[in-house]
Amino acid sequence: MDYKQQAVTALVAALDGQLTADEVTNKLERPKTSDKGDLAFPTFTLAKTLHQAPQQIAQDLAAKLDTTGFEKVEVVGPYLNFFFDKAAYSADTLETVLSAGAAYGQNQDGQNGNVPIDMSSPNIAKPMSMGHLRSTVIGNAIANILTKNGYHPIKDNHLGDWGTQFGKLITAYKLWGNEADVKKDPINKLVEYYVRFHKEDVDKPELDDVAREWFRKLENGDPEAHKLWEWFREVSLQEFNDVYQELGVKFDTYHGEAFYNDKLEEVVQILRDKHLLVESQGAQVVDLSKYDLNPALILKSDGASLYITRDIATALYRDRTYSPVKNLYVVGSEQTYYFKQLKAVLQEMGVKSAPNLQHVPFGLITADGKKLSTRSGRIILLAKVLEESVKLAQEEIAEKNPSLANKDEVARQVGVGAIVFGDLKNERTNNIDFVLADQLKFEGETGPYVQYAHARAESILRKAPHVTVAAAGNELADPLAWDTIKTLADFPQIVKMACAELEPSVIAKYAIRLAKTFNKYYAHAKVLTDDAQLPARLALVKAVSGVLKEALRLLGVESPDEM
Ligand code: ARG
Repeated sequence: MDYKQQAVTALVAALDGQLTADEVTNKLERPKTSDKGDLAFPTFTLAKTLHQAPQQIAQDLAAKLDTTGFEKVEVVGPYLNFFFDKAAYSADTLETVLSAGAAYGQNQDGQNGNVPIDMSSPNIAKPMSMGHLRSTVIGNAIANILTKNGYHPIKDNHLGDWGTQFGKLITAYKLWGNEADVKKDPINKLVEYYVRFHKEDVDKPELDDVAREWFRKLENGDPEAHKLWEWFREVSLQEFNDVYQELGVKFDTYHGEAFYNDKLEEVVQILRDKHLLVESQGAQVVDLSKYDLNPALILKSDGASLYITRDIATALYRDRTYSPVKNLYVVGSEQTYYFKQLKAVLQEMGVKSAPNLQHVPFGLITADGKKLSTRSGRIILLAKVLEESVKLAQEEIAEKNPSLANKDEVARQVGVGAIVFGDLKNERTNNIDFVLADQLKFEGETGPYVQYAHARAESILRKAPHVTVAAAGNELADPLAWDTIKTLADFPQIVKMACAELEPSVIAKYAIRLAKTFNKYYAHAKVLTDDAQLPARLALVKAVSGVLKEALRLLGVESPDEM
């Protein structure tokens, strides 16, 4: 039973075709509190066309309106307030939620269309930054949300594993490196060599020539260069994979920049054939003035490829392999201009899915309002943050629930969940100022708060093992339960909205709202009282638990049953 639809139909009929169903739907509002009804139809904008006072219009409409299925429809000033039939609506909602289980909210809008998601994409031989963390968790949540909307996402880790910097790294390693040191602490050591290279080449510019030569060798498949590169890549990936494992994020492909090395020639050929390449100071560029963009540099004067050259090959590969209905790049907003250029080049090339390319930007993470970068040393090491968060969660649990059985596992779920949720609850384009302790609080708008609401629901269910909770027949006419019921019913719309906006925060905010509404209910209702409505109340608790769990799952956050 769709009450909104029912209200729309009744209003369209009462309005004698003055407004279409869509127009009525767009005008319907949701009153702030349930005592003012569940839907409100304002009549202000009709006053002009009907040459009548809004109050009068509201009264006339109410007199004509078919109110079947509603508890009542009240006129308050210029508003028609619709009150749902609570018992019927509750029974209907709970049946929908409980019989669908985890599939509640699933839709098939995406018709199984392929959506490559370029995400995480850290750079080999450098620490994974908070920006890469954001890309990883935002990309992962978007993939889950897309699946929930019937799409087929392909999570691709576009590793930064190619480029002139590898010539420098090889040079530095050959001068100052040592295998045992790298094995002990791979990324830190490699960074150390790289930093030293940059320090020393100030006075010894000939180092740059050596580095260029090494990169040329690497590009040409020189065995020694290739072996070193492969090793750097492998040891870096091992460290990255520890983080991915901690976060519970899996990728479908790890096609880094190097994967496209043998596909660059074709890119250049296509650009030449289409007369898109022009020479500029010895380099090859694509003119983008028609897009009001700076030219895209495709080949340096020494013939070396660039980041964008490899990205063009990537987009072409994805186009051919997946025929993407959307082609997403979850990358920080500092690359917005770059992705405009990339899209423009692809459009010029006539790549079929070019119009579907979408940069999904996100803001910076700052600590105490300052940007974090590798160079300034103000980097928060990701692994450290997760470790710290889990430790704090451990302390919190030791204090709140010392007898909990699987403490370490729960602390991991809570600690990691706090970081992930703390990121995703923000609109992705916002900058985040990072204060770890705030994200871990069990109160306020945090991951642990939502997890705790879920665990509380589960604990209620454990306390009534003798009661059978059925999907059908839960006519819960309890006004205290009403807001929770309506919030549950909103989930499918929320899932669609999050997908349309590619915005995990829509899900996170919803999870907070559901948790809050439920906590309020729980604080006032005597859920476990042994009366006729006990099974219906438990059905509500079970539905809340399931939807909270599913919302958290979409965000990539686990939900322990006890904490
Ligand atoms: N490795 C890059 C960086 O750390 C991000 C790559 C983003 N993906 C892409 N297809 N360009 O900045």
